[in-house]
Amino acid sequence: MYEIIQKQEMAKGTIVKFIVNAPKIAVKIKPGQFVIIRVNETGERIPLTVADVDPFSGTITIIFQVVGKSTALMRSLNAGDFFKDVVGPLGKAAHIEKLGTIIFVGGGTGIAILHHITKAMKLAGNYVIGIIGAREKEMLILEEEMNLLCDEMVITTDDGSYGQQGFVTQPLEKYLDERHDVKEVYAIGPIIMMKNVSNLTKKYGIKTMVSLNPIMVDGTGMCGCCRVTIAGSTKFCCVDGPDFEASEIDFDELEKRNTMYLKEEKDALLFSIK
Ligand code: NAD
Ligand code: FES
Repeated sequence: MYEIIQKQEMAKGTIVKFIVNAPKIAVKIKPGQFVIIRVNETGERIPLTVADVDPFSGTITIIFQVVGKSTALMRSLNAGDFFKDVVGPLGKAAHIEKLGTIIFVGGGTGIAILHHITKAMKLAGNYVIGIIGAREKEMLILEEEMNLLCDEMVITTDDGSYGQQGFVTQPLEKYLDERHDVKEVYAIGPIIMMKNVSNLTKKYGIKTMVSLNPIMVDGTGMCGCCRVTIAGSTKFCCVDGPDFEASEIDFDELEKRNTMYLKEEKDALLFSIK
């Protein structure tokens, strides 16, 4: 059993942050890796990439968007409650090294995953530029935390209620036009955002890494649910990823597979509320 030490509702309650006591995972997990959580004995397995870790207090931070029945059940838990299982670390860690200038692009909930990788890349001695965006001011998460890590930071909102109006790709394009020392771009957010970042950085020939979150079941390479096409070959996101080089990903296939069960997810959520 894994105790929830702290709970924070963000983005009008649609995104929830939990700090969870998981000492064995906290000493091992690396940026980019994920855990699978089960709320109770009959619960669905929920894969979540870790947003932060404190090996000294033995805790991991997870941040998730409430999208269906299982995440709604997770949101109903409070500090002092327990998860039945937290399995991890799973997946491959992000490659952390000193490269020079790196631009980190985060959209919506994706900023949570980006945070852990940005922190490690900053500690490795890189010059860190952050571009984080959300639909509106109230939906923006981890602004303060990202600000602490970034040497420069730009905020965007789709509706212009905070920072620059528009998508994160707009300031990214401006940076790529103006700076010629960008060694890598790391982008995490909705699939369409990562695809558009990839299309943009391809034009400038800049290596771009993204973190994928396809549908997963076992998280250990057995079920095939999380298959993605990378450079024409089938890979399993849970064991070969979740981070991949963006230019090699078949984003259209990923988008189709990820929206396959949207109706069932909505129905399950509605049924659980009734
Ligand atoms: P969102 O729709 O609110 O978008 C967040 C930001 O992404 C926007 O503010 C914008 O700056 C950028 N964006 C959106 N559409 C864009 C476009 N067409 N071109 C360029 N930039 C664009 O995001 P959300 O509601 O937080 O997340 C929605 C989806 O992201 C969910 O389906 C969720 O599963 C997925 N997600 C993915 C990851 C991951 O690991 N890649 C992590 C968290 C969430
Ligand atoms: Fe089953 Fe990846 S989740 S193979």
